[in-house]
Amino acid sequence: FICILNSCNSSEADRKKISIGFSQSVGDDIWRTSMNHAMEVESSLHPEVNLRIYNANRQPKKQIRDIEKFIEDKVDVIIVSPFESDSIVPVIEKAKAKGIPVIIVDRKVNTSNYTAYLGADNIEVGRLAGKHLVSISKGYANVIQIYGDLNTSPGLERSLGFKQIIKQYPGIKVFDIDSDDFGHPKTNYIKLLDSLSNIDYVYAFNDLIAYNAWKIAKDKGLDKKIKFIGVDGLNGPFGGIQYVKDKILEATVLYPTGGSEAIRLALKIVNQEIVPKNNKLNTILIDSLNADIMSNQFDKIAIQQADIEQQQN
Ligand code: AHR
Repeated sequence: FICILNSCNSSEADRKKISIGFSQSVGDDIWRTSMNHAMEVESSLHPEVNLRIYNANRQPKKQIRDIEKFIEDKVDVIIVSPFESDSIVPVIEKAKAKGIPVIIVDRKVNTSNYTAYLGADNIEVGRLAGKHLVSISKGYANVIQIYGDLNTSPGLERSLGFKQIIKQYPGIKVFDIDSDDFGHPKTNYIKLLDSLSNIDYVYAFNDLIAYNAWKIAKDKGLDKKIKFIGVDGLNGPFGGIQYVKDKILEATVLYPTGGSEAIRLALKIVNQEIVPKNNKLNTILIDSLNADIMSNQFDKIAIQQADIEQQQN
């Protein structure tokens, strides 16, 4: 391409590359892989973007090293989906001090020293699950609440929102149990099922836990008796929307990954647009009444993106 006295004719190919480093915290989880995929798809729609994804595989120290590497490489923007809220604070502050904008996605961090946060409101997620449970149970039920991880903001807030609603209905009793970091319900779930044969509902902090709990209930012949509510509402064969359609889950609450929005936000920041510090993604309850509509909508968006990609190639 031609540059005369430092002024360049910018064509598609010459456009300055924008490097975005994304530090993902968990690799073996479908919600996380869809977040990565959404980022890759959105990046492919912007040829100037060079996206690099590092996966910390649930290791806080690895996540810190990954972010350090992005700082060393002087990327234009760092996007972080944190594993822990505390240990990561110094490296985020370091990036900011070096003038690299930082976008936090999903889990919150215990500093306000970042450029923008992006995610759905997990208190609202918990409230939606609670309101649905109240309406289908008419205010009388025994419920097991299976946590994701109470050391994370989604874990804490999904519980907080749920309890805010449920505490208004004394006929609803909630028994709390733990899970392996948004994965399998811990063994005391099975013990609880044995001791409480009158469990009516399970509210699990994501669709994967809800599905794992449903499998345990199925083995015990309790899957028709107990209704399961999850969170995430991914589209596709192993997503919560399909589980609702298959009647495995009574309902799920949409928790968008924010993958494509994070890339768009990064581009705005690089282009020096002023962006809000807090960027809220919408959530909605998905049950048998709207599961088809929701998956059709997601399919349409995917087809539109594929079309744009094709046109660009
Ligand atoms: O931190 C949020 C949770 O992490 C998502 O709901 C879950 O599915 C993922 O593992």
